[in-house]
Amino acid sequence: MSDRLADIGWEEFRGLSPEAKSGYLSAPGLGGMPYHTLFAQQFDRLILERLAALANRIRFISKSREGALHLKGLLSHKRAMLYFSQPSSRTFLSHLAACQILGLTTGSVRDAATSSEFKGESKEDSIRTFSSYFDMIIMRSPEQGLAEKMAWELSNSSRPVPIINAGSGKDQHPTQALLDIYTLMRSFETKGGIDGRTVVFCGDLMRGRTVRSLSYLLTRFEGVRQVFVAPQELQVPADVVMVLAKKGVEFEVTDSLRDAVPGADAVYMTRIQDEWDESKGASAKIDTSRFKFGAKELALLKADAVIMHPLPRRDEIATCCDRDPRAMYWRQMRNGMWIRAALIAATFGLEREIAECGY
Ligand code: NCD
Repeated sequence: MSDRLADIGWEEFRGLSPEAKSGYLSAPGLGGMPYHTLFAQQFDRLILERLAALANRIRFISKSREGALHLKGLLSHKRAMLYFSQPSSRTFLSHLAACQILGLTTGSVRDAATSSEFKGESKEDSIRTFSSYFDMIIMRSPEQGLAEKMAWELSNSSRPVPIINAGSGKDQHPTQALLDIYTLMRSFETKGGIDGRTVVFCGDLMRGRTVRSLSYLLTRFEGVRQVFVAPQELQVPADVVMVLAKKGVEFEVTDSLRDAVPGADAVYMTRIQDEWDESKGASAKIDTSRFKFGAKELALLKADAVIMHPLPRRDEIATCCDRDPRAMYWRQMRNGMWIRAALIAATFGLEREIAECGY
């Protein structure tokens, strides 16, 4: 299988808008599902709903031993490489577990210092090396746009294997946004869905890549209001706001979490991303004390609202909230494994087979 990235030069592709790029990232036979997963703009509402349905199916099938063994046979002839040159717990492990659910065997590099990059090999050459041995590459990198460049490189090589972006710089984290949307879908499944909800983002919105990806996916739903709560220095970047303004999405930028919580259907807390500080300790000088969710905020939260967090957390959600039924972050984390299994299955063209199998 191959996608359309071989039809376009790198410079031309690079200059396109994400929406225009999306057209190059699927492949015939996938029914609109992505071949390379690089950014949130690739997912429209129908694809999101199809992926959620597929994740639910996989989840259900895996409950029985027979079903789990059936799933394990589906991609047992394929291998996936997990190439993570930035720290990760959940994204790495949930992709690994997703591969295991579908029977893929895996290899991993978690530190460029242990690979030949240390000897001066370029990332392009490293990726080509992985594609020689594996059928899919799941990658995380501190470099914005690297997954995109690598996808183009591979599509123009003799081994055009798919790439899944598991986090690229401060820019995008599309599979996290998928699991966030899946979590919202499940949370509001019997309560009218995501349309018309208010989602409050709080924390380091400037450097949190999960925020950019999720904010975009929320625009695929009707009338979702987005509220951005952060200290001025860490407020949501202009490009995110511009997308919302262009799409006519209602949004608010504020520095008061207390004022935002009572109207929220979901509060999405994030960690201060101080690994990106330009001078060491710069974030520590910012007063973040009002951007934490604790007992007082919990008391203000609607009865059927949810608290989310991509994790890892520091102290932005007090542990006293953990047992509250509205604390969704643990289930959100597990949802990540199922939606990633769905995405990998869809990438290999298995959507229909899984939907129609007798389990
Ligand atoms: C996030 C990330 O890596 O961007 N973590 C994750 O993948 N769940 C959020 C973070 O590190 O704060």
